[in-house]
Amino acid sequence: MVRIVNWDVFIAPYAQVVEELKVKLKGMRQQFEYEMEQAPIEFVTGRVKPKSSTIEKARRKGINPENIEKEIQDIAGLRVVCQFVDDIYLVVDKIKDRHDFVIVEEKDYISRKKDSGYRSYHVIIEYPVETIHGEKKVLAEVQIRTLAMNFWATNEHSLNYKYAGQIPGEIQARLKRAAEAAFQLDEEMSKIKNEIQEAQKVFHRKEENKKVPKNNLTD
Ligand code: GTP
Ligand code: MG
Repeated sequence: MVRIVNWDVFIAPYAQVVEELKVKLKGMRQQFEYEMEQAPIEFVTGRVKPKSSTIEKARRKGINPENIEKEIQDIAGLRVVCQFVDDIYLVVDKIKDRHDFVIVEEKDYISRKKDSGYRSYHVIIEYPVETIHGEKKVLAEVQIRTLAMNFWATNEHSLNYKYAGQIPGEIQARLKRAAEAAFQLDEEMSKIKNEIQEAQKVFHRKEENKKVPKNNLTD
């Protein structure tokens, strides 16, 4: 049985990291939006892993309590959701360019999807967070995926929860077909990306024109 003496104390630095990274990744999203008209990031979310699933994962993987911080990489978890597959690689590049944390691992489940059908790009980072005891390096997992990948993963996750990881074969088969459909959707959308972006630019401009004129640095 894995025991964590005081969960609130244990989780506090992770909660801090999630909040800081949410601010930073949302800032990235905002900058893209201002400078590119077409933001590659749709939205950013973050969470800390609940106590029960942290303990369950440690038990499942045979991790001792003293090794949890090193061996469970997703206690702090961030998610960046994009419209198109190539937006993912742009975001990954921007993450790699930063100097405020170190990348310790990359998992490309896009070029090599998981057996379940799961697709996503994961970047594991080591983030130096300031605590009342000084600097602490904390691992965090950033999942970067498209809306289609997110739709699939969210639904599959719900089913996994419902069936406690034992999804019936028939539903599993449907999930595989759904994963293939999500992949095809990403492929098709990529092919008409320019068309879509032109349309969104026009829409964006129309919306901007409706707004009350604001102070513009170039005026
Ligand atoms: P666990 O899958 O949680 O045991 O983590 P891991 O240490 O084996 O790393 P992995 O890269 O396999 O998964 C990390 C995270 O990616 C998970 O916590 C999920 O959020 C997500 N993930 C991985 N595989 C799947 C999957 O098949 N379905 C869904 N919905 N999410 C997945
Ligand atoms: Mg896994």
